[in-house]
Amino acid sequence: MLELRQLCKAYANGRQVLSDLSFTLPPGEFVAVMGDSGVGKSTLLNLIAGLDTPDSGAVLIDGVAMSALDDDAATRLRREKFGFIFQAFHILPHLTLLQNVALPLLLNQLPTDRAAHMLKAVGLAGREADFPRQLSGGELQRVAIARALVHRPSLLLADEPTGNLDPDTAHGVLQLLRAEIKANGSSAIMVTHSQAAAASADRILILTRDGLFPAKA
Ligand SMILES: Nc1ncnc2c1ncn2[C@@H]1O[C@H](COP(=O)(O)OP(=O)(O)OP(=O)(O)O)[C@@H](O)[C@H]1O
Ligand SMILES: [Mg+2]
Repeated sequence: MLELRQLCKAYANGRQVLSDLSFTLPPGEFVAVMGDSGVGKSTLLNLIAGLDTPDSGAVLIDGVAMSALDDDAATRLRREKFGFIFQAFHILPHLTLLQNVALPLLLNQLPTDRAAHMLKAVGLAGREADFPRQLSGGELQRVAIARALVHRPSLLLADEPTGNLDPDTAHGVLQLLRAEIKANGSSAIMVTHSQAAAASADRILILTRDGLFPAKA
């Protein structure tokens, strides 16, 4: 379970992005987070992912504050339990697509068979040996999605996962995301500007300067 306790974050230029943000994500729940550009959605995901640290407040995973873990323990927890899809995909240029997708399995000492299965599931069967530079933006995004799901993470963090996809491909990817999340009993936070994408979540929340609120029906 993920719990955010009174998170505050300002950047060096003095801009307060998050103030006193509290939120609990129950196991197995898939939420979409919407909100204006610049409001702090990516900042929020980065804080949860441990890529950035809050000024005050805490991110708790299964009751344990991330800040209480040493670097090794935090890395291990992220590697085992988290799946990430970022706005910039962080696909490694010198690895093939299959190697990129297999990476979370290798790092967790799991069998790597599922990597090819996931590439196929995102419509990239036959491209296993290609390198990232040979792919379009939308194809790269699908590689990132396959890699984020391959090790069945208990928490998926996705920043605009369908931002570069045409509506049909986006629809297919969202169905896959939802199916994987539900099959694995994972929880997920998906940031999106797309109403259609948000509709695939269990619940839609809006991030404003005042906090996270349920979307009006
Ligand atoms: N490293 C940084 N240094 C300074 N300011 C930053 C930094 N990263 C983000 N910001 C500022 O913090 C605010 C929130 O940024 P963030 O990327 O979280 O927005 P967002 O809600 O994800 O927007 P978008 O929908 O455009 O992706 C913005 O005003 C941005 O300019
Ligand atoms: Mg963003």
